[in-house]
Amino acid sequence: GKSYEHIKVSSPKPGVGFIELNRPKALNALCTPLILELNSALRNYQADNSISAIVLTGSERAFAAGADIKEMKDLSFADAYGADFIETWSDLVTFLKKPLITAVNGYALGGGCELAMMGDIVYASNSAVFGQPEIKLGVIPGAGGSQRLTKAIGKSRAMEVILTGDNISSKQAGEWGLVAKVFETPQECVDGALATAAKIAGYSQIAVKAAKEVVNKSQDLGIREGVEFERRVFHGLFGSEDQKIGMTAFAAKKKAEWSNK
Ligand code: CAA
Repeated sequence: GKSYEHIKVSSPKPGVGFIELNRPKALNALCTPLILELNSALRNYQADNSISAIVLTGSERAFAAGADIKEMKDLSFADAYGADFIETWSDLVTFLKKPLITAVNGYALGGGCELAMMGDIVYASNSAVFGQPEIKLGVIPGAGGSQRLTKAIGKSRAMEVILTGDNISSKQAGEWGLVAKVFETPQECVDGALATAAKIAGYSQIAVKAAKEVVNKSQDLGIREGVEFERRVFHGLFGSEDQKIGMTAFAAKKKAEWSNK
C-alpha cells in the first residue's frame, strides 16, 4: 500500500484495515501531519470496497500522548480560531461509515484519549493509561474529550478526571465502560481487535453500516426519535439483497454468502 511517515498501514486479515500510529520519538503525539495521514488512510479505507472494518492502534508504550504540545505552544487565539485548530481531528467520526476499533496500549492522554474514544469499539490492555491532562497545561480538552468522556463514564467521573488531570487505569476504564474489553497484554489487545474486526468483516457490509449508524444516533437523539429512526432503517433493510440472503440461508440451515447489496 501507500507509504506514510507517521503511520503504518496494512491488511493482516481479509476485509480488515490496520493502522498503527508510528511516531515513537514523541510517543505518537498527534502533530498535524500525523492527523492528515491518518485521515487520508481512513478515507482510502472508506472508499475501498474490500475493507469492511478498521483497527487503529499505537505502540506498546503509547497509543498517543496527546496533541503535539510543542506544535501548539506558540499558537495565538487568532491562529487557533482562524484555522479552526483540531477541527479536522473529528473528520473521521463523520466520514467513516465503517466500524473503527481502537486498540489502546500505554498512554492515551489528552488528544490520545479523545482519538481512542472516536473508536466505535475501544479495547485496551492492562498497560493502558487514559486521561485528559489538559488542565495541567492551562487549557481544556479540545477534540471532544469533555463530551465523549462524559457520555462514556458519566458527569461526576468525567468532571473528576478533567478537573484533576488524574489518569484512569485500564481496570477503571473497564469497570466504567470506557472500554469494551481489557486484555492481559498489548499483543492480545491488538489480536483481539483484529479478530473482532475480522468477525464484523464476515457480515453484510450493508447491515454493518446500518448498525453503526443507528447506534451512533443514540448519542444525538432522544429515546423515542432514536427508536423510530432505528425502526425505519430496519424497514429499509428489507430492500437489501443481504436481508433475503441472510434469512433464506438461516431457514435452509446454510451459511449466508453476502452480496453486500
Ligand atoms: N507533545 C509533544 N511531545 C510529546 C508529547 C506531546 N503531547 N508527549 C510526549 N512527548 C515527547 C516528549 O517531549 C519527549 O520528547 P524528547 O525526547 O524530545 O524530550 C518524548 O515524547 C518522550 O516523552 P517523555 O520523556 O516525557 O516520556 P515519559 O515516559 O517520561 O512520560 C508521558 C510519558 C507521561 C506521557 C509524558 O510524555 C507526558 O506527560 N506527555 C504529555 C501528555 C499530555 O499532556 N497530553 C495532552 C496534550 S494537550 C491535548 O491533547 C489537547 C487536546 O485536547 C487536543
